[in-house]
Amino acid sequence: MKRFEDLIAIVTGAAGGFGKALAERLHAEGAKLVLSDVRAEGLDGVAASLGDDVALCAGDVSQEDHSRDLVALALERFGRLDVAFNNAGIVHGFSKLALLDSQEARRVIDVDLMGVFYAMKHQLPVLERQYRRDGRGGAIVNIASVAGIAGAPRLGIYAAAKHGVIGLTRSAAAEYASKGIRINAVCPSYARTPMATDALGLIADDVASAEKELTRGVPMRRLAEVDEVVEVMMFAGSPANSFMTGQALAVDGGITAV
Ligand SMILES: NC(=O)c1ccc[n+]([C@@H]2O[C@H](COP(=O)([O-])OP(=O)(O)OC[C@H]3O[C@@H](n4cnc5c(N)ncnc54)[C@H](O)[C@@H]3O)[C@@H](O)[C@H]2O)c1
Repeated sequence: MKRFEDLIAIVTGAAGGFGKALAERLHAEGAKLVLSDVRAEGLDGVAASLGDDVALCAGDVSQEDHSRDLVALALERFGRLDVAFNNAGIVHGFSKLALLDSQEARRVIDVDLMGVFYAMKHQLPVLERQYRRDGRGGAIVNIASVAGIAGAPRLGIYAAAKHGVIGLTRSAAAEYASKGIRINAVCPSYARTPMATDALGLIADDVASAEKELTRGVPMRRLAEVDEVVEVMMFAGSPANSFMTGQALAVDGGITAV
């Protein structure tokens, strides 16, 4: 039996990185997908490789209407929504707080924090209504970061946004626990997606030194592979997770263990 057989899933940020890998894994495990990204061409490429049972909606998660449209598309095309992976996110350039550009900071808050708020705001009423109607629960998985659990020097606004995502996750989890909805956050450390590999280039000229620098505080002394993180996202969103809610799951090679 496939883990997501006939479940309807939204994935944001699905054109690259975690979102693309997640979409591929969910599809292989039987899910029907509503995929979103600001990069429409990237989204088309992912959909072409997947084939059937995929609906696309290009847009920006920092715009509330986009979150409303995604939920509406899930209902219109597939008749329900079972699980949402609120994954789209951006990071700002490494910078001490006083030197951060305020407009860039505002953009990170709008995408990484408000984007997750808008997403849940439109997903929760549908999940709650379905639970009341047929008793089938739903799940939301928000992608935060280890920067949402502890401070992240030179990534201050990103850390603030991700702390906010965990705050939203825990609060909503408590509010909706009795309505059949499990809501968790996944908190990766650096993983081998374009977001992290782009950062490597900013740290040192050669990749090996940059990786060493980036993984200095990681007990496992390495970056995460994308699939290692996606596996945890899959579990958190799957029916197999029936009693865990409101958690910030660190997938971090041991960073938060010490
Ligand atoms: N890669 C890491 O090391 C790492 C670590 C911790 C947390 N994260 C988080 O994981 C999530 C996914 O990151 P990733 O590493 O796959 O990044 P990525 O840059 O590889 O992919 C992110 C995707 O989101 C899309 N996107 C960006 N802004 C958007 C917007 N406003 N609306 C809709 N789509 C948008 C991009 O086009 C891209 O396809 C993010 O929330 C990120 O903060 C990543």
